Amino acid sequence: MFETLFTPNPSVETKVSIRPRKGVIIGAGQVGMACAYSLMIQNCFDELILQDVQTERLQGEVMDLMHGVPFVEPVEIKAGTVADVGQNADLVIITAGATQKPGESRLALVVRNVAIFKQIVPDIVQYCPNATLLIVSNPVDIMTYVTLKLSGFPPARVIGSGTVLDSARFRTLLGQKMGIDPRSVHAYIIGEHGDSEVPVWSKVNIAGMSLEVQEGNSASENAGLQALFDRVKNAGYEILKLKGSTSYAIGLATTEIVKAILHGQERVLTVSALVNDFYGIHDVCLSLPCVVNEKGVIKTVNLTLNDTEQTQLLHSAQVLRDIFDTLTL
Ligand code: LAC
Repeated sequence: MFETLFTPNPSVETKVSIRPRKGVIIGAGQVGMACAYSLMIQNCFDELILQDVQTERLQGEVMDLMHGVPFVEPVEIKAGTVADVGQNADLVIITAGATQKPGESRLALVVRNVAIFKQIVPDIVQYCPNATLLIVSNPVDIMTYVTLKLSGFPPARVIGSGTVLDSARFRTLLGQKMGIDPRSVHAYIIGEHGDSEVPVWSKVNIAGMSLEVQEGNSASENAGLQALFDRVKNAGYEILKLKGSTSYAIGLATTEIVKAILHGQERVLTVSALVNDFYGIHDVCLSLPCVVNEKGVIKTVNLTLNDTEQTQLLHSAQVLRDIFDTLTL
C-alpha cells in the first residue's frame, strides 16, 4: 500500500552511506533514562539503543521516547544490547547497577556493582571493540577503574562522568551567590565524585578575577564558602532523601561529555580518568580537568594546587586507592 505513494529514483544504485552516530545506554533506570532523554533532545545520536535486564519496563521506556521523535531531530530509539542491535557502537554509556539508598555513601555500592560490571563489560569488549566507554554508575571513580581493568581498553577511551556534575553544582551555587550566569563562573571540583572531593578554591574566577579565598577573608566569609562547598558535596544525599534518586542534572552532565566526544570539541571537563604522575598520584581513576575529544581524554590540565588542595587531593586519591586494593577483578 505504501509503495504507491512514491516513485523510486532509478539512478540511485546504492544507498549513500553516512555513518550513523550510534550509542548504547546500559541501564535504563532513572539516571539512564534522564541521559537518554537529554541525549535525544540534543541530537547526539542517529541510533540510540537502550539495554536493561528489566525488559518489560525497557519496552515501555523505548515506546515513550519513540513517540516523541517527531518533535526532535531524527533518531532511531531501540531496545537491544551491545551484542545485537548495539554492535559497533561509537559510545557505550554505563549507568547500570545498584543505586544508593538514602544515607548510604556511593562507596557502599562497590561490591554489588563490580559483580554487575563483570557481567556487562566482556560483551562490550567483544561487540563494540572501538567504542569509547562512559561510566556513570557509582561509585563512578571505582567503576571507571574497574571498567578499565576488565576491558583492557586504552585509558583514553575509558571515561567516568566524575565530578562534571559536582563542578556544575559548584558553579550554580557560586553563580547564585554572585548573581551571575553559572556559565561565566570558572570553578572546579576535583578528586573523587563523593565524600572526599576537593574544591579548587585557589582557581575560582570570574573573567580572570580570582575570589582570593586564601588570605584576607574574615572567618565568617570562610565559613560561608565552606557551607557552600558542603552543599555541593552533599547535594546527592540531599536530593536522594527528598526524591529517592538524582537524575536530570547527571543526564545533562553526561550529555555534555558525549557532545565533547562525538563533536571532537576539545572541551575541558572534570571527567574521571586514569591518573599517573600527578602530585605523586599513580594508577587511580579520579577527576581532574581534562581535554576531551573524539579520541577520549587526550590530555590533562597541569593544574597548580595550593598546599591545602594538594593534601586534600592526595587524601581523595588514597581513599580510592584503598578501595581498589580490596577488589579482586
Ligand atoms: C549525584 C549522583 C549522580 O551526585 O552521584 O547526583
